[in-house]
Amino acid sequence: MKDSYGRTIDYMRVSVTNKCNLRCLYCMPGSCSDSCDMLSVEDILTVCSCAAELGIRHIKLTGGEPLLRRDCAELVYELKRINGIRTVTLTTNGILLKKYADKLFDSGIDGINVSLDTLDREKYKYITGADELYSVIDGIQRAEERGIFVKINSVIMRGINEDDISSILLFVKHRPVVVRFIELMPVGEGSKYIGVSGADILEKLGNAKLYTKRIGSGPAVYYNVEGYRGIIGFIDPMSNKFCHKCSRLRLDCEGRLRSCLAYDDGFDMLPAIKTGREAVKDVIKKAVAEKPLGHCFEKGVAPKDGMYCIGG
Ligand code: 5AD
Ligand code: SF4
Repeated sequence: MKDSYGRTIDYMRVSVTNKCNLRCLYCMPGSCSDSCDMLSVEDILTVCSCAAELGIRHIKLTGGEPLLRRDCAELVYELKRINGIRTVTLTTNGILLKKYADKLFDSGIDGINVSLDTLDREKYKYITGADELYSVIDGIQRAEERGIFVKINSVIMRGINEDDISSILLFVKHRPVVVRFIELMPVGEGSKYIGVSGADILEKLGNAKLYTKRIGSGPAVYYNVEGYRGIIGFIDPMSNKFCHKCSRLRLDCEGRLRSCLAYDDGFDMLPAIKTGREAVKDVIKKAVAEKPLGHCFEKGVAPKDGMYCIGG
C-alpha cells in the first residue's frame, strides 16, 4: 500500500495487551484505561490477514508485555501461516522469555527484540521496579541458544542510565550481540525525562573505526565497530527524524488502528471486524490514506496515551 505521501506501508505493529510485569520509568503509568478490551486471537488474525491482502508483509507483536498473553506463541504460529506475511517478530521485556523461547522458536518466530536499559542489577530495579535483570539475561541466552535472532533495545535517559552506556558498549565489544539505542520520545511518561541521541553515544567510541551495516529495512542505522564482536544500532526519532521513510501502521491494545504513534487518532476496528472482511479492509485503507506526514514532538505535540497501549 502507498500512503498519500508515496510511502510504502508494509509493516504493522500489534499491541496484544497493555498489561506489563514491569513499571519502567519512561513508560508506565499513563492514560490507557486499565481494563483494555484485548483483541482475541481471531480478531488479530482477521485484521492481519486483511492487512496482508492489502500489502502488509511484516508483523511485530508488542504491548505492554506480549508474553503475558499465554496464547502469544500460538498467535505467532497462526500469523506465520497467513499468505503474504514474510516476518513475524516480537518485542518483549524478556522476563518470560526463558519460559517461552522454545515455543516461540517452534512457532517460527523470525526475531525477538528485548528491552534492556542497563546491565546493573540495582539500576535495573530502579528503572523497571523489579529485580529481574538476571531473568532477562537468562531469557536472551535461551533464545539465542535456540537460534532465535535477538536484538537488544536500550533507551538512555539523561542522569538516569547515562552511566550505563559504557557498560552496554563493553557488552557489545565482547559478545556477538546487536544492541540498538532508541532515543527517548516524549510519549507518556517519557516526556518527564531527557533522552540521549545516537550522536552523543557514538562520541563515546572515540576514534574507533565505524563501518555502516544494513540489517532489515527499519529506521535503525547499524555499525560494525573496529574491535567489537557485536553490532551497534541507533534509532533516533528526535535527532534524526525518519518519518519520511515510515512504513508502519499500529493496531493498539483496544483494537484501534493508528497510522502514527505520535497522535491519539485511530479507527476503531471492532465494529468493522463484526461487519466483515471488506469493512476491515476499508478501515485499513482509510488509515493508510490519512497517515500523517510525521510526528511534531519538536513542537510539543504528543499523544496522551502511553507507549504500552499504543504499542512501543
Ligand atoms: N521513547 C522511546 N522508546 C520507548 N520505548 C518505550 N517507551 C519509549 C519512549 N517514550 C521502547 C521500549 C522498547 C521499545 C518497544 O520501545 O524500551 O524497547
Ligand atoms: Fe512513523 Fe509516526 Fe513514528 Fe514518524 S512518528 S516514524 S510517522 S509512526
